[in-house]
Amino acid sequence: MGKAKIFSTHPLFEEARTILDSCCEVEYWAKPERPPREEILRRVKDKEGLVSLLTDRIDEDFLRGAPKLRIAANVAVGYDNIDVSACTKRGVVATNTPGVLDETTADFAWALLMAVARRLVEGDTMARSGNWKGWNLDQMCGTDVWGKTLGIIGFGRIGRALARRALGFKMRILYTAMKQAPPEVEKEFGAEFRDLNALLAESDFVSLHVPLNADTRGLLNAPKFFRMKPNAFVINTARGPVIDEAALVHALEAGKIAGAALDVFEQEPFIHPGLKRSNVVLAPHMGSASVETRSKMAAMAAQNVTALFSGQRPPNMLNPEVLKTA
Ligand code: DGY
Repeated sequence: MGKAKIFSTHPLFEEARTILDSCCEVEYWAKPERPPREEILRRVKDKEGLVSLLTDRIDEDFLRGAPKLRIAANVAVGYDNIDVSACTKRGVVATNTPGVLDETTADFAWALLMAVARRLVEGDTMARSGNWKGWNLDQMCGTDVWGKTLGIIGFGRIGRALARRALGFKMRILYTAMKQAPPEVEKEFGAEFRDLNALLAESDFVSLHVPLNADTRGLLNAPKFFRMKPNAFVINTARGPVIDEAALVHALEAGKIAGAALDVFEQEPFIHPGLKRSNVVLAPHMGSASVETRSKMAAMAAQNVTALFSGQRPPNMLNPEVLKTA
């Protein structure tokens, strides 16, 4: 039997390529821009495996055009770009890359929180502008982070990694999640469970760490912003559509909250013009973007592919039932 044919929608990093090339015949998308959907469809027609990024939509329609596909290995922990049940129906294994990006993403959420609270981007802009007239007592005064209350929405691996950072800043930590964490976990982080409304009412900083799905789409909407303190900040490194962006813009314009720091957006790469304000820090979806972490994510996706084609179970299956019935 010949080697499995794979299409990777990105050239990936060296380690991932070495893993993939060891057992598969891989065609890599090599251009700097992302491949158009039609191009991916054209190339995937005769392929048994796909390595995809979160910008590639893998739905029923796509799968129909890829009749030989046995695995779609996403290089991301989030998989809202993949219709997992459509994959299951067609016997296609879907995988993601959990765990390896937790600390890096929490670092970035923390960086955003600090940046918006301490007006770092505004300060940088002033320092570079040539208009800085020297130190003054009330210049660039932001708000303290240490000792404040941090509300974490979603208390999984990344939410907890953020809590660990907040402990060093003597913050009070609140969290909300589908399920209350075990007492030993709450103790470790000094974290208290709240329902979402209570968390929003008490927190000075609210950071989102939930996946995007039917339950979390538009989770922070106009009534929720209304519950927040006027001096509170929202930080989003999860997925853009978890926030109703128009409602956020309205809350910022009306002074219902103090600011926001956003790494993700409803319609990436479009950024709502109403978010381009001095009290909002913006980043182009780069939470996990360190060379080390992105390289580990790509290697993990490659391992998921090679496992399948060496007769093993891919370690990060989103639909393990596909192989149960095989
Ligand atoms: C993910 O993995 O889901 C992030 O959004 C990109 O690292």
